Amino acid sequence: MKMLFLTICLTFLLFGVSNTLDNGLADAPPMGWMHWQRFRCVIDCETYPDECVSEQLFRNMADLMVSEGYLEAGYEYIIVDDCWASKKRALNGSLVADPVRFPNGIKALADYVHSKGLKFGLYGDYGNLTCAGYPGSIDHMELDVNTFAAWGVDYIKLDGCYADQETMEQGYAEYGRYMNETGRPMVYSCSWPAYQEPFNIKPNYHALRKTCNLWRNWDDIDDSWESVSSIVTWFVKNQDRIAPFSGPGHWNDPDMLIIGNYGLTVPQAKAQMTIWSIMSAPLIMSNDLRAIDEEYKKILLNRDAIAINQDYLGKIGKQVLVKKKVAVWTKVIMPNISGHPSYAVGIVSNRTDGFAYKVDFPLKDLNLDAPHGYFVQNVFEDQADFDIPSNGSISMRIIPTGGVLLKLTPRMKYSEIQIIQSEITVDKI
Ligand code: GLA
Repeated sequence: MKMLFLTICLTFLLFGVSNTLDNGLADAPPMGWMHWQRFRCVIDCETYPDECVSEQLFRNMADLMVSEGYLEAGYEYIIVDDCWASKKRALNGSLVADPVRFPNGIKALADYVHSKGLKFGLYGDYGNLTCAGYPGSIDHMELDVNTFAAWGVDYIKLDGCYADQETMEQGYAEYGRYMNETGRPMVYSCSWPAYQEPFNIKPNYHALRKTCNLWRNWDDIDDSWESVSSIVTWFVKNQDRIAPFSGPGHWNDPDMLIIGNYGLTVPQAKAQMTIWSIMSAPLIMSNDLRAIDEEYKKILLNRDAIAINQDYLGKIGKQVLVKKKVAVWTKVIMPNISGHPSYAVGIVSNRTDGFAYKVDFPLKDLNLDAPHGYFVQNVFEDQADFDIPSNGSISMRIIPTGGVLLKLTPRMKYSEIQIIQSEITVDKI
C-alpha cells in the first residue's frame, strides 16, 4: 500500500502538470514593444494604411526594433494587442486572424519576427469577448493556448474583459496549466488584478506570483502626464502591499512606456523612465518607432537606465520620501562594494511652478549610509557626475514634472581597494 502511494506521488511529480508557472522566463522585467497605447483598434486600413492594426505595421516595427538599436538594447518582444482576430472563429473552433489585415496569418508574422531575432507576443482574453469585442477564450482555453503555441507565440497577454472576476484566480491558473502542457516556453502576462483592484477586491498576489510572469495591477495608461501620474500615485499608495510579490520571474506591471508619443515632454519622459526603472516595471514601449524624436529615443535606449531596470538582483524600488511635491525613489542594485549596496535614486517633481526648483536631500534621510559616501552618476545627463561625502546631500535643481535618475556607488578608502585587489590576486593563484 505504502509502495503504491509512493509510486503515485512519484509519477505525479515526474509527469504531472502543475498549475504553477514553470517556464523559467522573465528573470528580469520583460522588454519590448506593444501596439495598444499608440495604435489602439484602428482597423480601417484603406483610410489609415500606416496606422491600422495589420501585418504590415508589425513587420515595420520589427524592422525598426532591429535597425534602430532597440533589440540590441534589450527590447526583444513585439506584442500584438487586441483587434488582430476575426470576429468569428474557424469551423473547428480555433481563433483566426483577420484575413484582410493579416493576409498571411499569425504564424507567418511570428516567423518573420523570429527571423529578425525578436520574440513574438499575442493578446487573448480570458472572458467571453476581448475588450474590443473580439472572441474571448473562456470556452476554448486549451484550444487557444495550443493554437498560440503552434503559431510560435513567445508571450501571451491574457486580458480579463467580459469575465467574472470571482473565477479569475482559478481560471487564469487553468490557462497557465495549458501553457505549461504545450511545452513551449511562453511569458504569461495576466490582467486579473486590473479587474479586481478597482472594485475593491484584493487579488491573491501569492497566486499571481505562482501563476504569472507579470500582471497588470491597475488602469490602462494614456498618452499624458496626468495618466502616468495617476498610475504612479496608485502604485505608491499600494507599494508595501504589492512590492513583496515582485522579483525574478514575476513582476508588477504599471503598463506601457508612452515615451516618444505626443503626451510627454522630455523631462516627463525621463520621469517615466526613472520610475519604471526603479519599480522594476516591464519596459514595454507603445509608440511609433518610425517617428520618434532623437531626444526621446535616447531616453528609451539609455543603457544605464535599462541596466537599473534589469538589475541582476531583481529588487523592486520604492518611493521613500516626498518633500514639497518632489519625490525620492530608491532601489538597491549591484554592485555591493565592501558590504555596502549601490543604489538607483530617482527624483521626480510634481511641481508645476514653472522654474527649476532647488532640492536638498541629506543621504541620512534616505538611509544611504556607505561610510565613505558615494560616487554619483547622473544617468540622463552627460558629464554631470559628482561625489557626495557620507554626511552630504543630494542637491540639485529639478525642472517642473521632471525626473532625474542617479546611480550611487559606494566610495572606498584606498586601503579597502588594496585589500580587495590582494584578494583577487590570491583567488587567481
Ligand atoms: C484593456 C487592456 C489594454 C488593452 C485593451 C485592448 O483595456 O487593459 O491594455 O489590451 O484592453 O482592448
